[in-house]
Amino acid sequence: MTEGTDIVPVVTIDGPSGSGKGTLCQMLARHLGWHLLDSGALYRLVGMAADQRKVSLDNEAEVAALAGNLDVEFIAGEVGEPTKVILDGEDVSTALRSERSGHLASQVAVLPAVRAALLKRQRDFATQPGLVADGRDMGTVVFADAGVKIFLTASAEERAQRRAKQLKAKGESVNLATLLEEIQIRDERDSQREHAPLKPAADAKRIDSSGLGIDEVFQRVLAMVSTHFAVSK
Ligand code: DC
Repeated sequence: MTEGTDIVPVVTIDGPSGSGKGTLCQMLARHLGWHLLDSGALYRLVGMAADQRKVSLDNEAEVAALAGNLDVEFIAGEVGEPTKVILDGEDVSTALRSERSGHLASQVAVLPAVRAALLKRQRDFATQPGLVADGRDMGTVVFADAGVKIFLTASAEERAQRRAKQLKAKGESVNLATLLEEIQIRDERDSQREHAPLKPAADAKRIDSSGLGIDEVFQRVLAMVSTHFAVSK
C-alpha cells in the first residue's frame, strides 16, 4: 500500500523521455495548484553526484548511500522552463538536463538499493492539495494507489525530433541520428531492467502523443483528472 494516497489526490504520469510528460506535468500542477514531483531529476542528481565524487556506478551500496543523503531543493519554474534544482546549495539545473546526466541517471536507476533509497523521499511529495508525479514507475510502484494514472508515449523518432528542437533552441549542436540512438538505448535499459521497469500500470490510461499538440494532451488528461477528483477544469 502507498501511504496517504487515498487522502491526498495523486495523478501519475509515466512514460519514456521526450513523450512530453515533463511539460504536461508542469501544466497540470500549475493549473490545479498541486505539487509536482520530477522523479527523473532525483535519479539524475544521484548519477551526477556519483560521477562528481568518482563513485563507481557498480558500487551499489555507495551509490545508494549518496541517494539517501542528497541535500536537494526544488524550486518550481514557469511552464516550459525546467524546475530549478539546488544540490548542496549549488544551482545544478542546467547540468541536470544534459544528455550525460540522463545517461548516468538511467544507469543508477537499475540499482534496486538506489530505487529503495529514493522511495520515501518521493512519497513525501504527496501532500495536500495534491500531487502530479512524473516518472517511469509512479503508477506501478511509488504511487500504486493513485486515483488517475497516465502512460504517455510517442514514437522514438518523434521524441528525437522534439529533443533536437529543444537543444537547437538552446544553441547546442544536434545530430539527429545520435539522439535517436541514445533514446533507443535508454528506452531499452529503462524498460528491460529487472526492478521497476518502464511499463504502464494495469490501470493506467495510455495516450500516444505522436502528432498531438501538448495542449490537446493536457485537455484530455485534465478532463480525466477533473472527473475523477471532482476538481474544476
Ligand atoms: O525523466 P528523466 O529523463 O529525467 O529520467 C532520467 C532517467 O532516470 C531515466 O532514463 C530513467 C530514470 N528514472 C527512473 O528509473 N524512474 C523514474 N521514476 C524516473 C526516472
